[in-house]
Amino acid sequence: MREQWNSKLGFLLAAIGSAVGLGNIWRFPYVAAENGGGAFMIPYFVAILTAGIPILILEYTIGKTYRGSAPVSLGRINPKFELLGWAQVMVAFVITVYYFAVIVWVVSYIGFAFSSAWGADPAGFFFGEYLGLTDSPLHLGGIQTNLLIPFVIVWVITFIVMYRGISKGIELACKIALPILLVCMLILVVRGITLPGAADGLDYLFSPDWSALADGKVWVAAYGQIFFSLSIAFAIMIAYSSYLPKKTDVVNSAFITATANHGFEVLAGIGVFSILGYMALQQGVGVADVAGAGVGLAFITFPTAIDALPGMNGFFGVCFFLALFTAGITSFISIIQAVVSGMQDKFGMAHKKAVTVVLVPAFLLSIFFVTGAGLLILDIVDEFINKVGITACGLIEIVLIAWFFRPEEIRKAANEFSNFSIGKWWTYTLKFLTVVILGISLIITIV
Ligand code: ALA
Repeated sequence: MREQWNSKLGFLLAAIGSAVGLGNIWRFPYVAAENGGGAFMIPYFVAILTAGIPILILEYTIGKTYRGSAPVSLGRINPKFELLGWAQVMVAFVITVYYFAVIVWVVSYIGFAFSSAWGADPAGFFFGEYLGLTDSPLHLGGIQTNLLIPFVIVWVITFIVMYRGISKGIELACKIALPILLVCMLILVVRGITLPGAADGLDYLFSPDWSALADGKVWVAAYGQIFFSLSIAFAIMIAYSSYLPKKTDVVNSAFITATANHGFEVLAGIGVFSILGYMALQQGVGVADVAGAGVGLAFITFPTAIDALPGMNGFFGVCFFLALFTAGITSFISIIQAVVSGMQDKFGMAHKKAVTVVLVPAFLLSIFFVTGAGLLILDIVDEFINKVGITACGLIEIVLIAWFFRPEEIRKAANEFSNFSIGKWWTYTLKFLTVVILGISLIITIV
């Protein structure tokens, strides 16, 4: 018998745990700020409505109906589609390895936050003392021994959760982690918006630059963000929904997951940018000057901002990194499960064996990320996987289902147990609108 989630709530928590991840806390705020601020919300909403939710419904229905990981479910639809499933599993495996590295850094920083161990120069500390960054991705520069303890901690937690399986491992982990995440985030938001200067930060994040709407790159960014953020098109949601009972309402599950994910993104944006607004005010500079991107936002800008807070700096620092950790680990296990269930279903492996087969190579490869070249390798891999890998997998998935299979059949299966039925708009959106927008996005990116 295939394992199942304990309850629908358990599944929803796991799906939301997967969606809400590092991508929401550090990626969304700066992607939004860089791409038109408030105006970004329009392409982003369009992306949620034309790609995010329709694809989520599609993947939930495929997983639930065909009861297998991405390669197996897609292969049951048409044996030729199985290859796409494996491509998605490959993408998930690659993300596993570098996503892990960031969680390791986060664990270290939970410890550092107690005493602002980064000192007066967080950038120098992060790149130099902590990562021992080398000058080229080919120059590994040896293993950073100070990363070894968090490295082991994260792997041990991951092995335990994964060995325990779907309901006793993943579901339980999400039930513990998500409330912690929410509390930490709310604390940061309340602290943030009550600081002087918060309004400038929020202004920067939300005030619309309408001219951005005419910029193709802004739309590409919106679609790129939605795939990563909702964990779609890289095998996760098909795998997760394959453990659902037949009678689950997948349509409302998709709406709940997307709404929770986006709500959290906005919350994180408010927390992060109100605190940055305060810091900018302290330093007498503009918010744009302090808002670092990506890795820099979490490990450099935020530590600086924490130091600038008027009091309880250690507490707020720990809240921030604990939020990143809980968000990250629940996504991390979902990315691994996408690969594990692929091995398990295809080769009939026992669960623990599949976990071992996936985690041991991932563990070995992840060692690269505790060398001095880790961050440089991560940047290259992340850029390629995010901008090209995931979008291409998503586009091919939709083309195959909408044009080479019977999307109406999937729509009927989605509606079978759903309170709120989706109309033909779903099929037409995927078949035309989503394919065209994603196709153009991908071309712009590659060019
Ligand atoms: N959905 C996960 C994130 O946003 C992968 O980080």
